[in-house]
Amino acid sequence: MANTASWLRGAALYQIYPLSFLDADGDGWGDLEGVLSGLDHIASLGVDGVWICPFYPSPLADFGYDVADHRDVDRRMGNLATFDRVLEAAHARGLKVIIDLVLGHTSDEHPWFRASRRSRSGPLADRYVWADPAPDGMPPNNWLSVFGGSAWTWEPRRRQYYLHHFLSSQPSLNLHDAACLQEMLDTAAFWLERGVDGFRIDAVDFFAHDPELRPNPALGWQGEPPVKLFGLQRHVHDMMHPTIRTVLERLRAVADRYEGRVLLGELSSQPGGSQRIARYTAPGGLHAAYTLGVAKQPFGARPFAEALTGVDDPGAICWSLSNHDVERAISRWLPDGADPERFNALLAALFCALPGTVCLYQGEELALPRATLAQAELRDPFGKTYWPEFQGRDGSRTPLPWRADADHCGFTAASAPWLPVPAAHRAHAIDRLDARPDGPLAVWRTTLALRRAHPALRHGAVAAVEAEGAVLAFERVAEGERVLAVINTADAPAELSLKHRPRATPLDLPRPAGAPPAEVTADGRTLVLPPLTAWLGLA
Ligand code: BGC
Repeated sequence: MANTASWLRGAALYQIYPLSFLDADGDGWGDLEGVLSGLDHIASLGVDGVWICPFYPSPLADFGYDVADHRDVDRRMGNLATFDRVLEAAHARGLKVIIDLVLGHTSDEHPWFRASRRSRSGPLADRYVWADPAPDGMPPNNWLSVFGGSAWTWEPRRRQYYLHHFLSSQPSLNLHDAACLQEMLDTAAFWLERGVDGFRIDAVDFFAHDPELRPNPALGWQGEPPVKLFGLQRHVHDMMHPTIRTVLERLRAVADRYEGRVLLGELSSQPGGSQRIARYTAPGGLHAAYTLGVAKQPFGARPFAEALTGVDDPGAICWSLSNHDVERAISRWLPDGADPERFNALLAALFCALPGTVCLYQGEELALPRATLAQAELRDPFGKTYWPEFQGRDGSRTPLPWRADADHCGFTAASAPWLPVPAAHRAHAIDRLDARPDGPLAVWRTTLALRRAHPALRHGAVAAVEAEGAVLAFERVAEGERVLAVINTADAPAELSLKHRPRATPLDLPRPAGAPPAEVTADGRTLVLPPLTAWLGLA
């Protein structure tokens, strides 16, 4: 199947972080039975599918991204039969299901690592990346872990170091090893056989490294060093090795054995993102590249304009404005003093106008702000290492609020959920927003419906991208339809000359109560945009 023909193109996905979605068995952790109960809420948004974050057996050191068995379900989350019911129930509601596939590393509790760390011989000896120490006992090179410190940890039994790009309890798999790669391809086939519609493939840029283990060059810094050490190197040898494309091709060959299955690969935010999007999504590779590229930049017209024009095929991008790894967009980007509901409507309009795939993170439909946690409440090891300068990712991982008046907002019947539900999230609870026709939830439903109703918004090519000051404008063009999207990213009024499109007619974008609409002047030549307001029109 050509990438452009896949269902993923133009689709809107909803990201489920199952540990925080809904706890059905009352142990304080979200589970797959909870996902099952919440599917109607997701279907009511009008999305095309869900991406479910890891639910595999795991010691939860990295909250599921440390997998101890790739072909089972963690007992706290359910079992394979529960998963099958989730799949069936999602499909019955017309929702596709893609799951996280963590191919690049395992938990140190995985049986492969337990065996591999014991001895330099045996069938699993090369399943991970092992290297001798430098003559002075230091690690084999200067590579750093994303979460802090060296990327190498000493294993006394083998008298060797092992590589880990993330936690030391997440040893990196050696995908250069044929048997290792084959195991992971068979894992993909295992889930495809069960009927999943595809994968969100975790941390693709870390799949392969320089086999000679050459050191990374220093990036250098001016003044004070940055908080996160990982930012001090040019990551030219520890990651993003050209052989990654071969791994993706092998995976694609597996996916193509099944009808309509898709590969969505997560790219890092390292420089060269546009080239990697093009390389990884060229025919025979990924169907789309999931990136937080724009989410990690300041909010404004230019980063979006650059992302839209930086690749030949912006339809190969899967955009997300928030996820479980970054601060929620509404807190990260809200200008000081601005109205969050108005900003929410702006984000919804922008999101729904973007080409390719769009991915909404659970809670984003509720305009949920970041949770501020005390140091003692932190779970994320990344945050614990860098506290207080960087407070980690827990602030965007707190449980979804379902019922405003219930304990822990109805997320769990346990006395304490694994992360607290902030009191400020009550006002955002699903039952409360369900009852508000002009609230954030209604805004997302209506805006997503607009995307579905207009072939240009869903499948159209991108044209005429402009960033004029704070105003982002671009067109989406499909056969028989041309939609102009205009986004005023500033908390100040703005204008855009409609020049060659004087007869543009507005589409009906939802607005929060009291927010004035953008309007075209009587002569049809100028669009007048109130602060933080979007306008979509048929051009
Ligand atoms: C996931 C993170 C995780 C990391 C290591 C990612 O990019 O989204 O949550 O910590 O991979 O698996």
